[in-house]
This record gives sequence, C-alpha cells and structure tokens, in this order.
Amino acid sequence: MALFSKKIETNDEFAVLPKHIGIIMDGNGRWAKKRALPRSAGHKAGANVFRTISKECERLGIENVTFYAFSTENWKRPKEEVDALMSLFMDYLLEAKSDMTQAGNSKIKFIGEREGISQNLLDLMDEAEAETAPHTGTTVNLAINYGGRQEIVSAVNQLIKEGKTEITEDDISAKIYTCSDCDLIIRPSGEQRLSNFLLWQAAYSEFWYSDVLWPDFKVDDLHQALREFEKRNRRFGG
Ligand code: FPP
Repeated sequence: MALFSKKIETNDEFAVLPKHIGIIMDGNGRWAKKRALPRSAGHKAGANVFRTISKECERLGIENVTFYAFSTENWKRPKEEVDALMSLFMDYLLEAKSDMTQAGNSKIKFIGEREGISQNLLDLMDEAEAETAPHTGTTVNLAINYGGRQEIVSAVNQLIKEGKTEITEDDISAKIYTCSDCDLIIRPSGEQRLSNFLLWQAAYSEFWYSDVLWPDFKVDDLHQALREFEKRNRRFGG
C-alpha cells in the first residue's frame, strides 16, 4: 500500500525537499493590531506574502503547496472581515486572469466546500483552475471554506454514493482534495496547532513553527523551514 510516499525530491539548493508543503497563514490580525490598522490590512499584507511564497515554491520545484486561506469556521468572523477576505481572493484571481504570469507556471487549485461562496468568486475560481491546468509547475492549492473533518466526511459520502460498503485508507486518499500526504506543515505566529487543516494528509507530516507573523514571513523563513526539514529523520512509524 503506497500510502506514504518516501520519494526524495531534491534540487541544487536542498538535498531533500518536501513533495507537499502545507502553510497556515496565521498572524495577520496581530500584525495589523501592532500597527493600529484594521484586520483587513493584515490580510492584504498576508496576500502579498502568499504571492511571494508560492512563487518561491515554484522556483524551488516543490510539487504541491497548500495554503490555508479561509476555514469553514472563519464565517463566524465579523462580516466586514469576511468580505475583505473574499475581495482579496477576487483581486488575486482577477489579476491572475488578466496576467497569467501572476501564476507563473503553477497550477491553481481550490480545495474546500463550494457552498457558501458567491457565484462571482466561484466563476473566477473555475476560470483560474481551467486556465492554469496546462501548467507544469507547482500545484498551488488554496484552501477556501475548507475544513479537514469536512473533507474526510465528504470523501466518505462520495464513496457511499458509489456503493462502497467497506472503505479502505486508499479509497479515502483517492477522494480527498489534495495528494494524500503532506510532508511539512508550516505555521507562523507562535501558535502550535493544526486548526482542522489537512487532517488526513498530516498523519506523518513534519511540523515547523515560528514566531514570525505571516505578513512578515520571508523567503528566508521558508528556507529555514526547509533546512530543518532536511535534517528530520522520518521513519513513518517504521
Ligand atoms: C489567520 O490569521 C488568517 C486568516 C484567517 C486569513 C488568511 C488569508 C490571507 C493571508 C489572504 C490570502 C489571500 C490570497 C489571495 C490567497 P488571523 O487573522 O486569525 O490572525 P490573528 O491570529 O493574528 O488574529
């Protein structure tokens, strides 16, 4: 059973590279508060860091990177903040549409529940996925209206609909939104929890935490996480 891939990715700069990185973009609110700015300013600064880090993942040859942009729980935030986040997603997708070099050679993919997201945004998401589908670089997964538990429940429901009466791990791995294993999870801002992110994929993930707030996160921070990952001795329970 090929549940946990041990394939080692490498390039000129790193002896070992994760095939799939998950990033929890945390600390935008605190970053804004420190500057007496509205929370939306923190998210805007965070969106720029998302652009920089996804480009660097592509430059490094990372196969998959998943960014946690909006959780199923984030709807509980004030409407003003939710609207600001949705309009940041729209802006990014409009830019990507008018200037495909925004996406470089990356494939953009969305993971999460479509229900609840406005039709305008859904249309742009579909267009961005379709237009970047022929790209051969990094797959950049954007988790919007995403919850790890919801993802597993949805996978199981699909299998039930297909008539399965007994479910294997491989069945679920085939139905979840991303590739089934996440090698490295990065969480800035000093918090050390998973927050319903990539629950299935994180079974054997390495974790890297940092006190840097996401809007201050630099390419150097990503490199630090990758240097640390190089040193980890991954045994996959063996
Ligand atoms: C968590 O930090 C962050 C979010 C809920 C939103 C993350 C979204 C972005 C960075 C925008 C991404 C944009 C694009 C175009 C992909 P928080 O707000 O909970 O911070 P806090 O813990 O300091 O309050």
